[in-house]
Amino acid sequence: MSFRKFALSSLLLVLATCGCASRGSRGAGSAGSSEPERGNPFENVQYYINPDYVQKAEGAAAKALPADAALIRKIEAFPTAIWLDSIAKAATIGRYLDDAQQQQAKTGKPTLTVFVVYDLPNRDCSAKSSAGELKVEENGEARYKAEFIDVITAQFLAHPQQPIVAIIEPDSLANLATNLGMLKCAASQDAYMKSVAYAISKLSLPNVSIYLDAAHAGWLGWDGNRSRIVNIFKQVLLMAGGVGKIRGFATNVSNFNTLTGRDGKKLEPSDPCPDEITYVHKLGDTLNRHGIKHKRFIIDTSRNGKGGLRRRWGSWCNVKGAGLGERPGVSQESGVDAYFWVKPPGESDGVSDPTQPRFDANCQSGDSAKGAPQAGEWFDAYFQELVKNAQPPL
Ligand code: GLC
Repeated sequence: MSFRKFALSSLLLVLATCGCASRGSRGAGSAGSSEPERGNPFENVQYYINPDYVQKAEGAAAKALPADAALIRKIEAFPTAIWLDSIAKAATIGRYLDDAQQQQAKTGKPTLTVFVVYDLPNRDCSAKSSAGELKVEENGEARYKAEFIDVITAQFLAHPQQPIVAIIEPDSLANLATNLGMLKCAASQDAYMKSVAYAISKLSLPNVSIYLDAAHAGWLGWDGNRSRIVNIFKQVLLMAGGVGKIRGFATNVSNFNTLTGRDGKKLEPSDPCPDEITYVHKLGDTLNRHGIKHKRFIIDTSRNGKGGLRRRWGSWCNVKGAGLGERPGVSQESGVDAYFWVKPPGESDGVSDPTQPRFDANCQSGDSAKGAPQAGEWFDAYFQELVKNAQPPL
């Protein structure tokens, strides 16, 4: 998963079409039901902690010096999203939901589990690092629906008493807004739209709040890009059964943009969204203008504690010097439901060895940490840095 927008072809496409300044730059509810009226799903709940993640952090603590180990163990108290990134992984989801249900029964407090739904056919069409198992030309859309989304839906339906958040397909629709100049993205357009619409229509259940991925400030911040993505959202939501099917949008997933701080101002002066809070407000305005009203946001703060790290606003792979950001929880910012650690801190964005499969040149850029394993795999040295650089400190 990543961010990819400044591939040359996409840049040319954007320049050709957007007129933006040069930038070297609830429920199964009815379509009309206004989802935010159900309330903020992150409020008045406890968060389910992924035991697999705790195990990874424990592994890191066991190898660390005692003082560092104590710091690492602090992060085990915070929730991270559970990524459903393959058919095999989706088949295991009952285990997490049963576990959360037990925790809820024991404590008497609703226990929220947060999932990322991430196995689109031709996944990661503009980059290589997170290419997935399904291919459009190999019946990927039908398999995505039957073997992935239907399996997740059945499990959500089997756990109707507990709150669930589903973040839908990071990077997918954003690639259709800016990267159709790339062959793989152009060939994915129809399947992306239909698959995402299907996911939303099926997963929109009384106990499930859906946030559709909306990339981030450094990708869709420009006025032209925001208009384009909102038009795509509109089409997909209509296909899914209406704008009321989702509670809102997730931004900054696996990215490094700080909430405030205006890093983007220096790196890409033509981007009117120099940080993530500015982006969600401006995107909210664009959505409202296009009739997608009252939507809320969640922002991934797992690795955005420290700004001023990048030489390129567009760098997205294991950015060097990053630190954990705001702790997961309800946000006081208007329109923002929550900050959440969507990208599990310590999991890689992509392999940095050019001889390996799925190598993407972005993961070897001067902004990226060296020695990174495959996307999703544990990157211990990087994890240690994230913990030490946490802002606010742990
Ligand atoms: C990457 C990987 C995916 C992993 C996710 C979270 O996007 O492709 O497999 O689950 O990051 O670390």
